[in-house]
Amino acid sequence: MHETRFIQLHVPDAAQLAAEAVQGLQASQAHASPKFFYDPLGSRLFDAITQLDEYYPTRTEAAILSAHAAAITDAVHGAVGAGATMIDLGAGSCEKAARLLGPFQLERYVAVDISIDFLRQALVQLQRQHPAVQTVGVGLDFSSRLALPAGLVESPALVFYPGSSIGNFAPPAAVQLLRQARDISAGGALLIGVDLLKPAAVLEPAYDDALGVTAAFNLNLLRHLNRLVGSNFDLRQWQHVAFFNADADVSAGRVEMHLQARQALSVQWPGGERHFAAGERIHTENAYKWTRPHFEALLHEAGFGRVQTWTDPQGWFAVMLAQAA
Ligand code: AVI
Repeated sequence: MHETRFIQLHVPDAAQLAAEAVQGLQASQAHASPKFFYDPLGSRLFDAITQLDEYYPTRTEAAILSAHAAAITDAVHGAVGAGATMIDLGAGSCEKAARLLGPFQLERYVAVDISIDFLRQALVQLQRQHPAVQTVGVGLDFSSRLALPAGLVESPALVFYPGSSIGNFAPPAAVQLLRQARDISAGGALLIGVDLLKPAAVLEPAYDDALGVTAAFNLNLLRHLNRLVGSNFDLRQWQHVAFFNADADVSAGRVEMHLQARQALSVQWPGGERHFAAGERIHTENAYKWTRPHFEALLHEAGFGRVQTWTDPQGWFAVMLAQAA
């Protein structure tokens, strides 16, 4: 059995994160990066979101991977061959990748996540289930730059980026990340989950569910900021707002999440404060929704050649395999 290796490339700097958060709070249109959702409670709330009836992406992606398992496996073998390395971006619990290691006949698994601590337990368990697979955990914040240490991946690899997380990047940043994914694939391929454009009547409940789990996920960002910057946000004074913006800066549009002040209020933190008028918002997340041709064009712009696409019967979600050109 192989021994799991861990490489920490990202050491969280609380002072730097706090400065970034304060800068967002002071902007004329206040904003906070979606990375501030993911403290331990936020990660658990996101897991709960993926189980909601209204949140279709997780189960739809899983259904596509299962309904088209044979065709996707053949396509992956055609692109990177058997015995390749999988690089799993945002691996977390490594659950999605674990289902593919056997069918794809992978020999190495590189799990990348912002927190190496998330990966430790999952990788040790995965190593036990797949003793012949070499596993490596990399702690890296790839939202700023995706690059792996020299020598870690030398032959064509499969980059795996499921869950439609690419939708949380604005188009220019998405192309940049896709280009970096192509580079680390070393001439291999990218297997990616992409959420497709669909009616607002389906999109909006997915980001504003009846149980209020997404509202709690959004509001929890303020709790996280209170700890990070020492602010005194009172969560009861804020309301979760989510809507589809068809006029966003791409042809497809995006779901936006905001936190809206229920009344005029002030928030203080050490060294600063901000007044919010009633109804004023903090923009917390964009989730871009693409048309299939639009996303395929984005992949080509990022340096991929052939793209193979599988979707569900309603055409709500796509799994795409893009080969490095
Ligand atoms: C992580 N990401 C793909 C989720 C999404 O659908 O954009 C985050 C999320 N935000 C609210 N619900 C889920």
